[in-house]
Amino acid sequence: MSEPLTLALPKGRLFEQVRELFASRGMKFDVDGRKLTSLDESGTLRVILVKNADLPTYVHHGIAGLGVCGDDVVYESGHEFTHLLSLKFGGTSMALAARRDHVRDEAPGHLTIATKFTRFTRDYFQGLGIPVKIIRLDGSVELAPVLGLAPYIVDLVETGSTLKANGLEVLETLKTIGVNLFANTAYYKLRFQEIGRLVDILKN
Ligand code: PRP
Repeated sequence: MSEPLTLALPKGRLFEQVRELFASRGMKFDVDGRKLTSLDESGTLRVILVKNADLPTYVHHGIAGLGVCGDDVVYESGHEFTHLLSLKFGGTSMALAARRDHVRDEAPGHLTIATKFTRFTRDYFQGLGIPVKIIRLDGSVELAPVLGLAPYIVDLVETGSTLKANGLEVLETLKTIGVNLFANTAYYKLRFQEIGRLVDILKN
């Protein structure tokens, strides 16, 4: 029997949904806060649990052959992978938001935007020819307009409750973000038959 396929999964809110999907297809695995790798009960997969933003790095370097995470995280990494399957859960939007009482600055000039998604934000506004000044944050981005660090944020919006709780509103939805199963391209070429079988199992 061949080596199990290696799969990187992100810690956090997606994890339980991914675990349930694999368990419903006969691949049960157990990872908790301290145990960060696990072999599933069928011996098909070795699962590695990593921080969301690090996941593309592990797959890019082939430490994990397969990964599951959002388009946003892959885009920020700048790495290219082989897309295998779009998952039906975990979808969100990337949005431009500001305080509800925000008044658009009349003076022409650049927008100051706080975000974790600096690559996306730069490319998006550059594509529109709008100059932006980007302030990089690593979390709790909604605080930036509240505390006066930046009038705008670009962030993920799922239920909208974090924006609402901080007196912010979406000005514009910039992109729909999906969650995908993808592969390191060299790994895919080596193991395409097994990976193809896995994708068929997950699809049905
Ligand atoms: C994400 C995102 C928003 C929030 C949106 O943050 O950056 O802050 O979720 O979700 P909602 O629309 O359902 O309220 P996450 O919880 O991943 O943590 P972070 O603030 O540390 O980035």
